[in-house]
Amino acid sequence: MAEAKLEAWLEENRRYAPSPDFSARANAQPGIYELADADPEGWWRQQAERLTWDQTPTKILEWDAPFARWFSDGTLNASVNCVDRHVAAGRGDQVAFHWIADAVGETRTITYAQLLEMVAQAANALQELGVRAGDRVAMYMPMIPEAVVAMLAIVRLGAMHSVVFGGFSADALASRILDSDCHFVITADGAFRRGTASPLKPAVDEALKSCPNVQAVLVVRRTEGEVDWVPGRDHWWHEVVQRQSVQHRPESFPAEQPLFLMYTSGTTAKPKGIFHTTAGYLTQVATTYFYVFDAKPDSDVCWTAADIGWITGHSYIVYGPLINGVTQVMYEGLPDSDGKDRWWRIIEEYGVTMLYTAPTTIRTLMKWGDEYPQSRDLSSLRLLGSVGEPINPEAWMWYREQVGRNNCPIVDTWWQTETGALMISPLPGISVTKPGAGMRALPGIQVAIVDNEGRHLGKGEGGYLTITHPWPSMTRGIYGDPERFFETYWSRFPGSYFAGDGAKYDSDGDIWLLGRVDDVMNVSGHRLSTTEIEHALVGHHAVAEAAVVGASDDLTGQAVVAFVTLKAHSETSDDHAAIIEQLRIHVATQISPIARPRQIILTPELPKTRSGKIMRRLLRDVAEHRSLGDVTTLTDPTVVAMIAGLMEIHASSDD
Ligand code: WTA
Repeated sequence: MAEAKLEAWLEENRRYAPSPDFSARANAQPGIYELADADPEGWWRQQAERLTWDQTPTKILEWDAPFARWFSDGTLNASVNCVDRHVAAGRGDQVAFHWIADAVGETRTITYAQLLEMVAQAANALQELGVRAGDRVAMYMPMIPEAVVAMLAIVRLGAMHSVVFGGFSADALASRILDSDCHFVITADGAFRRGTASPLKPAVDEALKSCPNVQAVLVVRRTEGEVDWVPGRDHWWHEVVQRQSVQHRPESFPAEQPLFLMYTSGTTAKPKGIFHTTAGYLTQVATTYFYVFDAKPDSDVCWTAADIGWITGHSYIVYGPLINGVTQVMYEGLPDSDGKDRWWRIIEEYGVTMLYTAPTTIRTLMKWGDEYPQSRDLSSLRLLGSVGEPINPEAWMWYREQVGRNNCPIVDTWWQTETGALMISPLPGISVTKPGAGMRALPGIQVAIVDNEGRHLGKGEGGYLTITHPWPSMTRGIYGDPERFFETYWSRFPGSYFAGDGAKYDSDGDIWLLGRVDDVMNVSGHRLSTTEIEHALVGHHAVAEAAVVGASDDLTGQAVVAFVTLKAHSETSDDHAAIIEQLRIHVATQISPIARPRQIILTPELPKTRSGKIMRRLLRDVAEHRSLGDVTTLTDPTVVAMIAGLMEIHASSDD
């Protein structure tokens, strides 16, 4: 069944071929895959020319597995590459950011020349507060321009930022500050969400009770809320930064100068401080932004709708776009801060050409209904991107048709905090796209899908996704824990990086990402992908979102349990038993009777982390009636309790 469906998509592929604009560009650059495959290191040396170097590197890769050094004898300054050089090239008047506040009406426009002055002032201020090359500076910020300015100022000094997502608790912030021994914190008094101010600084104050080494806290005024103040430690941004000179002479740093830390909110108790360095990372984010997002600095208005507190914000709001010198939209609010058409209004008003977001958001927008995107002129869009989780074909089609109006190629980009930059994605103008497929590794990247023993698989086969050769933006390790780095990523398939994801080649040899391997179930000895069943469920007209887990089962080893939210028009139906039965049959016919869910729980919401990922681990606990572990990273911890309650009701009514 799944194969037949795939065949139907392939049949339709002509409709999804890139627009003529992209094809023209592609034809100007023939054979980049072949070029890169023939000499990957040569390819990356050539891509490194996108950067402005103080000393051009002669070395490319030094590889002492699992530790890589790229371009190690080159020197450069990261913030010069993002800002100064565009101003020096006479592009200072170009807008770097159109910033749009959560509340309607408040906007700021920042040109590259203004950004340079802001970064220079912030760098001078940080220097005055004592920040030096090699220091770690924690950031806990809302989505405001000062967040970008602070990141660039920190790396301008050769220090590292460690941005902690503003939705994390004081405890989470403290553990991250302590793990990398940050002596400085940059924050704001508060943040806006749907027009309401919520304080941020109290969490910093709370965290710092257990972080005695923090000597200075720089605070941006955003909400005008009351804040507690520790004299000598706390400094207002508008007092310390704005009195500084707008000139700052940048120093040159080695290619492998530490750039930033990004803690991943994994399922293990201790967060991992994923560590990135300068030139390799910058080379790959710049290259991928150029090719995958087809960056056109003079005409694009790009919008990566992500938070700066995650890797997507780092690589594709800050470094990739700024190195390419494009104009961006940066939006502080939620998709429904002031109405469910807010995003579409922003696209219309600013003439956004590229939108990059996550499937979970696409499904939410889809759930709200077609009338919202339909009511706006979205014709400026020419490219759409997806990131963070496998995109189900229905959401892909909706994105393509309702948002892209069948004119925009969709790039489904696979990568991770650890990979630093995109790894698997179609190239607009070159690749044909398939709804839900990542297609193939980008030029210069070598991946293999392997079986349990590490044997390379071929067309039509599925297994584990591995990366077989070092790449420039790869993490240089887990901060302070080289053993754990080796164990986590390099021990499962010796010599290769194991991403933790399952993937398969289709009959054309194109790659489909299947989600984390811990989400793969084994039901009666048959391997089933949770993602595949979710796709089937979401393909049903009544379903908005679905999360599937494998719950242990005495008879079949594991059994499929699905948690489903219905679309608005189906929610009102009171015949839930009939809908559940329909869905079970739907899955059985779409995939196989083996995949038929043992149980389907209808719920108004799914538990999600603050980065928008569905917490399947918690759902598995619920499905197996286990006591619930740590729920502090959820947007709304009460959702899980509610679902557990629903589960009990369903269980008793099944009896
Ligand atoms: C998943 C986000 C399928 C994957 C940039 C990976 C994806 C994890 C995709 C990394 C995609 C990311 N298709 N799955 N296009 N992109 N993932 O570190 O499971 O927050 O391992 O980085 O997200 O999440 P992270």
